[in-house]
Amino acid sequence: MAKHTGTWISVQKRWPFVILAVLSISTAFVFIRASFDSCNNTKQVEDTDSHVTITSSVPIHPNPLQFMKSKLVLLVSHELSLSGGPLLLMELAFLLRNVGSKVVWITNQKPAETDEVIYSLEHKMLDRGVEVLAAKSQEAIDTALKADLVVINTAVAGKWLDAVLKENVPRVLPKVLWWIHEMRGHYFKVEYVKHLPFVAGAMIDSHVTAEYWKSRTYERLGIAMPKTYVVHLGNSKELMEVAESSVAKRVLREHVRESLGVRNEDIVFAIINSVSRGKGQDLFLRSFYESLQLVRERKLQVPPMHAVVVGSDMSAQTKFETELRSFVKDKKIEDVVHFVNKTLTVAPYLASIDVLVQNSQARGECFGRITIEAMAFQLPVLGTAAGGTTEIVVNGTTGWLHPVGKEGVMPLAENMVKLATHVEKRLTMGRKGYNRVKEVFLEDHMSQRIALVLKDILQKAASHSHS
Ligand SMILES: *[C@@H]1O[C@H](CO)[C@@H](O)[C@H](O)[C@H]1NC(C)=O
Ligand SMILES: *[C@@H]1O[C@H](CO)[C@@H](O)[C@H](O)[C@H]1NC(C)=O
Repeated sequence: MAKHTGTWISVQKRWPFVILAVLSISTAFVFIRASFDSCNNTKQVEDTDSHVTITSSVPIHPNPLQFMKSKLVLLVSHELSLSGGPLLLMELAFLLRNVGSKVVWITNQKPAETDEVIYSLEHKMLDRGVEVLAAKSQEAIDTALKADLVVINTAVAGKWLDAVLKENVPRVLPKVLWWIHEMRGHYFKVEYVKHLPFVAGAMIDSHVTAEYWKSRTYERLGIAMPKTYVVHLGNSKELMEVAESSVAKRVLREHVRESLGVRNEDIVFAIINSVSRGKGQDLFLRSFYESLQLVRERKLQVPPMHAVVVGSDMSAQTKFETELRSFVKDKKIEDVVHFVNKTLTVAPYLASIDVLVQNSQARGECFGRITIEAMAFQLPVLGTAAGGTTEIVVNGTTGWLHPVGKEGVMPLAENMVKLATHVEKRLTMGRKGYNRVKEVFLEDHMSQRIALVLKDILQKAASHSHS
């Protein structure tokens, strides 16, 4: 008992910070997701604690990226915003800074007027010792020529090569690692990717996406992919810290449920993605509606069911947003469907819901980071059998997969009913998902995977410059 009390007190002292951090303005979350070198105070908590695991930022084993110390790395970002691609590149910047690499960042496409988000993100980088240069400056060109490694992030950033490096392109290509996160057809444009066959390597977030790029570039453009490395992403230490703190989770859960008008015993299914047809919120709501019908027809005993759509942007006034709202109104399910505005602060929602639905359509997600984030919170995932989701969710173990498109509406509805009726199954799947995250989807795992790639690329680049 004494131990329990000790744990409670030490964590209780800490949770206000965690919660404050998680609930603060959206840009703050970037720094939560992307910060790697803060939180030394967690050490203290760990010493007295044996039940609530709080990850220390002090590395226990040697950092796999250590060999990058004092290497000069140029990171080329297509744009700078609070979206997946740039944030991931920023994470890489900080991982490299942590081992003492010299990191230079350029943003190829910037609006002419000053932008608050860009300003704040750039300052975050400057604070961490990342040098930020203008994309078209002579300094950027010089850095590209001198660098040990150049990382181009996303397919569209390829435009920078010809536009800025011009005749220097061939000298830089042998040390370029091209990190690709897209899988939509319009990225397969020659003007973006024509140099792809000549770079040292490509890094892609999932096997399915890598396969798709391979066949698509060949069929559509007649070009061959360079050596391609698949690197699954990992959860940040900060996210894991919240996910593993039962106190933080409880407080967040109470807070969010109260704000949505959902009771503690109700079961909540959520989809967390920017609202668009490709992410499948319409089909999710149809499945949810069907699941309510199934429960009624079969006279099942289940707690009240709710659906939450996180990622709305009504100010965008899209036809799709309007369509979602009219569906909810027509079916008279306004009381149990909740729309939440777009946010990067996903942890409070993950702490409050019972099941994550990943309903991305067509070829699915390239990776789908929200999936591993949800698993960290011990949530089962009901996902489409497409894209990166199939490499994360173990069907029948950490969740269930359903087909994309209209065909998937009833299977998803059935899976929702199954999880609503079988509490034990839901909890077991959540726990297994969490175990899977601990085995392969942590930041440390991602660092290890990236380290192998960078080692390979540096070797290649070195042998090229000697030959
Ligand atoms: C959500 O966004 C809409 C439109 O942009 C806005 O009117 C509303 O106040 C926002 N809601 C919250 C809770 O921020
Ligand atoms: C997932 O597993 C269920 C049974 O647990 C099965 O009916 C379904 O076809 C599987 N889906 C995929 C994509 O493997």
